[in-house]
Amino acid sequence: MSELRNPTTGQAPQSPIRAKSEPRFPGGPVADPAGSHHERRIRSFQPRRSRVTAGQGDALERLWPVWGMDIDGHRVLGLDEMFGGLPVVLEIGFGMGEATAQMAAEDPGTGVLAVDVHTPGQGNLLGLAERNGLSNIRVANGDAIILLREMLAPRSLDGLRVYFPDPWPKKRHHKRRLIQPEFLTLAAQRLKPGAVVHCATDWEPYAEQMLEVLSAHPDFENTRDDGGYAPRPGFRPLTRFEGQGLDKGHKVRDLLFRRR
Ligand SMILES: C[S@@+](CC[C@H](N)C(=O)[O-])C[C@H]1O[C@@H](n2cnc3c(N)ncnc32)[C@H](O)[C@@H]1O
Repeated sequence: MSELRNPTTGQAPQSPIRAKSEPRFPGGPVADPAGSHHERRIRSFQPRRSRVTAGQGDALERLWPVWGMDIDGHRVLGLDEMFGGLPVVLEIGFGMGEATAQMAAEDPGTGVLAVDVHTPGQGNLLGLAERNGLSNIRVANGDAIILLREMLAPRSLDGLRVYFPDPWPKKRHHKRRLIQPEFLTLAAQRLKPGAVVHCATDWEPYAEQMLEVLSAHPDFENTRDDGGYAPRPGFRPLTRFEGQGLDKGHKVRDLLFRRR
């Protein structure tokens, strides 16, 4: 087969080269938008490149410019403007976003700022939001720590959801777990008094760690009088990771703590 060549230079076409920070989808989310992978900090996620379906890619190209935002760490978000004055909860690590979309649909009076680094999930959630006519979801791409630290104003959040965060079961990886005292101190600064932090996990040792650090933190109090885990509230749908945990016979724990 004859090769197509540039008629002026006579050279064979080169495959397009993308700079690392350029989006995989035109106008879509960029990899590591704040350059946080170069920070000397232990992260709670492993950067990975995952396959994106045609539908997810299409959603990213069309909807990212409208409902998506990169966590570049360079500006403080005007949540009132973004969500038309709705109270706003932050969900960290939405995965494929099914539970996020369901909760947003069932509570249209609450804005959901949903953050993850997982590109297929971002496309999936955007598609779900469009198909279900949800206007109360915004999808943020990047590290939630940078979002909290650099881009959210003090006392700007009405709630925080962390459902089935990566359990990092190996001892040498425990330091990667999200729910730690320093994380809670940062989150407490961004939450309004009375705001609820809702965590759930199917990994018993992580549940114990969550209960311990949340109970010990001076800025939070357990919503349970008995100081223990809460039954799964009816408003939290089963998540994808939860389903996988239940299939393995894991016990699921919910924790609901209030910002003092
Ligand atoms: C185990 S999955 C759970 C997903 C979903 N909540 C569920 O239950 O199906 C955890 C998710 O958290 C995300 N994640 C972990 N650390 C994060 C961080 N610092 N910022 C943003 N996303 C993070 C991961 O990319 C992953 O998609």
